Amino acid sequence: MSTPEDSATGVAHPRAVRSFVTRAGRMTTGQARALTDLGPRYVLPYDPTIPDLIAYCADQERASGQNHLKTVLEIGFGMGQATAHIAALKPDTRFIGCEVHEPGVGALLKLVDALQLSNVRIVQHDAVEVLRDMIAPGTLDGIHIFFPDPWPKKRHHKRRLIQPAFVHELALRLAPGGYLHCATDWQAYAEQMLQVLGAEPLLVNTAEGYAPRPDYRPLTKFELRGLRLGHGVWDLVFQRA
Ligand SMILES: C[S@@+](CC[C@H](N)C(=O)[O-])C[C@H]1O[C@@H](n2cnc3c(N)ncnc32)[C@H](O)[C@@H]1O
Repeated sequence: MSTPEDSATGVAHPRAVRSFVTRAGRMTTGQARALTDLGPRYVLPYDPTIPDLIAYCADQERASGQNHLKTVLEIGFGMGQATAHIAALKPDTRFIGCEVHEPGVGALLKLVDALQLSNVRIVQHDAVEVLRDMIAPGTLDGIHIFFPDPWPKKRHHKRRLIQPAFVHELALRLAPGGYLHCATDWQAYAEQMLQVLGAEPLLVNTAEGYAPRPDYRPLTKFELRGLRLGHGVWDLVFQRA
């Protein structure tokens, strides 16, 4: 069904509803340098002719004598602080982060360099398409979605990432026993997450309702301030049955 927006633009095939809007973010010199210097090594292309990104990474790494036993996909890593923190804690795990915001990609590359992380890879592209086209079923040990955009206005709720169809796609890509960890500071979105994840037949909640924050997820500055002001943060950890 076309929307008024589509007919206004005369688009025959309505554009997909995306979970992000492209922001014209300003890059610092350091982020730009990191993109130029480290991008070729750590940033992977969005390429639908690579149907199993995990196998592709494993092949590449073997050639350089690396061996990561597990893979975690992170969707929307922002400036990458949590990604880098967790990747440093878990050197045996390969972390593939998807982010569309270029300054964020530069920021994570800077952290990768500062912390000498060899287990981080980045795809600068819509994670919905990366998942659909490049992640084979049953190949992920974990998925992290931390503080996804809450899209608070009702008319924007369709942009939220955590919706039944996408959650099903996520669950299919998890290996048995693999986990999906979401966190949000937006109560109404937390409730939606609990409802949607709880209704996905391939997933089982690891907690009674919301989960305690797993130790690996660092508190963000923003979250610390929120907590001091009495705002809540909700973690949800579900496992592939
Ligand atoms: C609210 S920020 C949270 C960033 C970070 N996870 C944190 O906790 O600070 C959400 C991020 O998700 C990214 N994002 C939203 N939809 C995305 C998508 N479909 N693919 C890749 N990145 C996406 C946005 O660009 C933004 O940086």
